[in-house]
Amino acid sequence: MSSSYTKPAPKFDLASPSPAYTLASGDKMPIIAYGTFRSAPGEVAVAVLEALKAGYRHLDLAHVYGNEEEIGGALKQAFDEGIVSREELFITGKLWNSDHDVDIVPKAAAHSLKNLGLDYFDLYLIHFPVCWKHTGLSTPSWGASELGTTPLIDTWRAMEKLAETGVCRNIGVSNWPMLLMHDLVTQAKIQPACNQIEVHVYYQRESLVNYCLSRNICVTAHTPLGGGLANAETWNTPIPLHDPIILEVAKNHGKTAAQVLLRFLVQRGIVVLPKSMKPERMAQNLDILDFSLTEEEMGKIKALDKYVSYKTNPNPLSAFIGGPDAFTAEGTDIFD
Ligand code: A2P
Repeated sequence: MSSSYTKPAPKFDLASPSPAYTLASGDKMPIIAYGTFRSAPGEVAVAVLEALKAGYRHLDLAHVYGNEEEIGGALKQAFDEGIVSREELFITGKLWNSDHDVDIVPKAAAHSLKNLGLDYFDLYLIHFPVCWKHTGLSTPSWGASELGTTPLIDTWRAMEKLAETGVCRNIGVSNWPMLLMHDLVTQAKIQPACNQIEVHVYYQRESLVNYCLSRNICVTAHTPLGGGLANAETWNTPIPLHDPIILEVAKNHGKTAAQVLLRFLVQRGIVVLPKSMKPERMAQNLDILDFSLTEEEMGKIKALDKYVSYKTNPNPLSAFIGGPDAFTAEGTDIFD
């Protein structure tokens, strides 16, 4: 089958000392972010401070991770101690599923900003394309959540207002599949700046990535290492970090498997947000700019795609939409 698709030009320069994706607004987003999913309260403040000291300037946060206040404390310390200034940081936050109602959206953003001690987000994302019944700003719904009634486009219009007022400098979405993305693109007055999705070598999502990049919608990869060992332990999924091809390529470059996995993504024009609690790994995950994968290596790694989501987020499926809206015994998966 032939294709007339032309690959979009990369929106960042990997040869620059600190490559940054130029968003549609002109704002620059550093291409390696520090992720805070699965970072437990009690540990996350130390980890965020370590990440800032290691050189991360892009932090990926979300209300539902339950760690905003603690991260706010770490940010205050970092600003007070002169480790970094607010202007040097690119901070992403996310609107939770139970906060989609139009009157709740600005309150949810304000609530998260207050928790963090900030007065604006560089980027604010709708976390998932699903509206749940509102359960209170401090008590986001989880488990057997019930569907709400606010259409996604109405939530987007409320996000557009946040962008117009400057509370959120850029707005976008997360976990949006391609056809929903197209639905949003055709209706948005302010185009989504970003789609943050699960992408890694075993789930490469070429169509969705190319759709977004061809419209200057930044793609950020969550779970870029395939979740490390954490997903394997929980769901017995294969571990990209242990893949023999990845290990062989890593050996040839004197790099680690993690560095090859990340480099593969940034060479595809994708922003990555690896998460680690360990300072040496934080540093390692930033250190991916001094080597490059050849066309042949890119091809070999491309062939590793298994086309299977690790469903890092809604798993077990029944935990995501339950109650009266679980239409099967196992529950309803957001991607059903
Ligand atoms: P840890 O926090 O103990 O370092 P993902 O970013 O794909 O969600 O993967 C995160 C997982 O991968 C975490 O369990 C993390 O463990 C692990 N991890 C992060 N960086 C590395 C690395 N450079 N080498 C090996 N494992 C890593």
